[in-house]
Amino acid sequence: MDFSAVIVAAGSGSRAGQGRPKQWRTLGGKPILRWSVEALLTAGAKHVAVVIPDGDEALALAALRGLEGWGATKGGAVRAQSVLSGLAALSHRPKDEPVLVHDAARPFVTPRHVRDLLQALESADGALPALAVADTLKRRAEDGALSTVSRDGLWRAQTPQAFRRDALLAAYAAWPAELGEPTDDAGVVEQAGGRIALTLGDPRLMKLTYPEDFTMAEALVAETRITVIGQGFDAHRFGPGDGVWLCGVRIAHDRSLIGHSDADAGLHALTDSLLGAIGEGDIGDHFPPTDPKWKGAASALFLEHAADLVRAKGGRIDNVDVTLICERPKIKPHRAAMRACLANLLKLPESRVSVKATTTEQMGFTGREEGLAAQAIAAVSLPA
Ligand code: CTP
Ligand code: MG
Repeated sequence: MDFSAVIVAAGSGSRAGQGRPKQWRTLGGKPILRWSVEALLTAGAKHVAVVIPDGDEALALAALRGLEGWGATKGGAVRAQSVLSGLAALSHRPKDEPVLVHDAARPFVTPRHVRDLLQALESADGALPALAVADTLKRRAEDGALSTVSRDGLWRAQTPQAFRRDALLAAYAAWPAELGEPTDDAGVVEQAGGRIALTLGDPRLMKLTYPEDFTMAEALVAETRITVIGQGFDAHRFGPGDGVWLCGVRIAHDRSLIGHSDADAGLHALTDSLLGAIGEGDIGDHFPPTDPKWKGAASALFLEHAADLVRAKGGRIDNVDVTLICERPKIKPHRAAMRACLANLLKLPESRVSVKATTTEQMGFTGREEGLAAQAIAAVSLPA
């Protein structure tokens, strides 16, 4: 069934602290507004009217870059005005089309919630997800005296809330001003005599309101990610020359490393560790040594490509660790520069990047200085 959506994100987030409105803050590295817009588009919304504070257009564009099927419109001083502004922005849609009205401050909406609501709307004038109240409710009188309020029949109303757009607009038009501001949209339809159905609410549809809600939400995001590990190994033979490339840094030496590209074994091992973590084969699959295009190539390209592949999977590199194995050149004087170079290529803080070196006590091919080897390991966080 076709439907459209209004996401209200024009509040100032005063209770959340931190200064800037909460919809522009990130959760799991993604702007809070983007969570809901992506979810409703994925659930099949034909158009999403995103209601934002006046002057925040650039922030919305940045937060929703790459998504299609949404438009921004200016909000009002109170939530109800923002909802009306969003509904007006849907006037190009059929007037009795189901519309979901959703708080940007509830990022964890899923297609399952949407399905339930659209189905419930078929036999009601509105539908909302609701949770039974589990805690005992207390009322404190002005003199401090406590009494217990029965929680029988009490529900916590969440969003998204579903209506037919013309019915919701008519209910808003009929809302008696003396009642003050409505606190949700279902309340407006109830007041107009409409019948509202309840669907299964979800603790994950929590509204991010106070600072501690953001800590809880980050923990929920972490639960939906896994850490994957990849390792890489590479070796190159020494040949005539006057220097080597290692971890993106040129080091003067009495020989060079031989290879199709710049023979940077450190970058090659690291690239393979990232590809290994995300199950994307190895460096040879992506940059075949038979392809003349990669002759003499700067291996930084290979590493940046692997990092892009990680990002394209919604992944985040948590840390990398490289070990260079050689008798000479001595690595220690160049370690800081290598670390800075890798951090820059991977867009990571240096604290997440390690470069180490060891000899093999003159044993084996590295001990005889026939060649140099590198090992790397990378930890990547991916959506589960
Ligand atoms: N909202 C809106 N326009 C307003 C007020 C609120 O679009 N004039 C939106 C908020 O952006 C939020 C949702 O309505 O997504 C629920 O409101 P609330 O949680 O109260 O958010 P804020 O009003 O931003 O926060 P606070 O009340 O703490 O200032
Ligand atoms: Mg508010």
